[in-house]
Amino acid sequence: MTRLVCVSNRISLPRKSAAPGGLAVGILSALKRTGGLWFGWGGETSEGEPGDPDLHIRDGVTYATIELRKAEFELYYNGYSNDVLWPLFHYFSKGMRYSNEQREAYENVNRIFAQKLLPLLQPRDLIWVHDYHLIPLGRRLRELGVQRPMGFFLHIPFPNIEMLRVLPCYAELLRDLTSYDVVGFQTQNDLRSFHSGIEHLFGAEAVRPDGRIRIGDRVIRAEVFPIGIDVAAVENEALEASTTDVVRRMTDSLMGRSLMMGVDRLDYSKGLVERFSAYQQFLETHPENLGRITYIQIAPLSRTDVRAYAEIRQALEQAAGRTNGRFADTDWTPIRYLNRNFPHATLMGFLRAAKVGLVTPLRDGMNLVAKEFVAAQDPADPGVLILSNLAGAARELASSLLVNPYDVRGVSHAMQAALSMPLSERRERHADMMKVLRRNDIAAWTRRFMEALEQTQAPESRVRAIGSIK
Ligand code: F6P
Repeated sequence: MTRLVCVSNRISLPRKSAAPGGLAVGILSALKRTGGLWFGWGGETSEGEPGDPDLHIRDGVTYATIELRKAEFELYYNGYSNDVLWPLFHYFSKGMRYSNEQREAYENVNRIFAQKLLPLLQPRDLIWVHDYHLIPLGRRLRELGVQRPMGFFLHIPFPNIEMLRVLPCYAELLRDLTSYDVVGFQTQNDLRSFHSGIEHLFGAEAVRPDGRIRIGDRVIRAEVFPIGIDVAAVENEALEASTTDVVRRMTDSLMGRSLMMGVDRLDYSKGLVERFSAYQQFLETHPENLGRITYIQIAPLSRTDVRAYAEIRQALEQAAGRTNGRFADTDWTPIRYLNRNFPHATLMGFLRAAKVGLVTPLRDGMNLVAKEFVAAQDPADPGVLILSNLAGAARELASSLLVNPYDVRGVSHAMQAALSMPLSERRERHADMMKVLRRNDIAAWTRRFMEALEQTQAPESRVRAIGSIK
């Protein structure tokens, strides 16, 4: 029997509340189906060298966590991962702050991940590495002699070579990706961008007509695997949560007003400042809505030690304060802006209660909240999704109201259109989107990626074929 080994920066331990983001939901759902091992950073830093992994077993899944040295973690996570790769991959190259020190820490943490994972590996493992924190891990494992099939999935966008080239070590990053047997992306656009990088580095002939990549005697499968959700689980969660105290208290507090809702990690890529401006413009241009709409934005704090995140937090507090100061009444607050998190089921209950779901990132790999909003709706009286056409989910959720998140006027018009959409049209759009969600659900994502991985034959000399980068 093969065993699935998932590796990600952060792992979601069963005793703690789920880490936010689609990655944790996706990996957990894959591992719950197949059993296996989830290896990653446990969320703690230490002063000394990292020790052996801590192991916990629950429901057929082994969770193996390591600690990282505080100073190194800062440079690897806050620095290289989230102050270099994150802005660059989301096309915010101006926000990128590159330093060699950060890059070295990133390389070193990937080396530590490989060393600590190695003793836990078994001969028939399939190794599936997740996200931008761990791009060099495949090469590091190959250097330690690991021959098993190895796949990498990027949860965030992949930039076109013209953007990627801004990174001083872009060539090493591309080479590292070719250490894997399967490289997965969220959308065709991301795959095309990857191909643009491969052609730039290895020549146009490296990308075969079937989209696979040939470098020396190695063939790499680079494909699109759009991540999905567990549709039935979200439907049930949302339905059950709608009768809970916490959801009832929220809906009672609306006093019959229509609810617009957004749920996003507090991140500048989520387009919240632009969304707040659009809401303000909506109230200005459609004053008949004053006192009749409540917009709840849930935005749990994230990456608080990165400067750009502190800045966006301040900008949002000001924007929410401005709108409330201008439009609020003694018995009405136009925006309720919360930095706290809620259990997943409660969020699904909130989304079900919303007439309008706002998902307007400036750039997003996929955005599972968009998919969850659709699945959480009552099919007999569904709410309307306003979705950024710069989110990966827009490729599949074409029956949402697609907007350009930078177009404040366009988004404010979409808010009005969503609130006045007839029931028949809402039902039709919802049914269309549910079909897509069911077809590309989380089980299909896992199955397709694992099949691709199983079909690869690990050649003897990967490291030799692609060259080792120190
Ligand atoms: O989806 C992108 C991602 O960085 C995931 O890797 C991660 O699980 C999620 O967002 C939350 O990010 P962080 O671990 O930095 O809080």
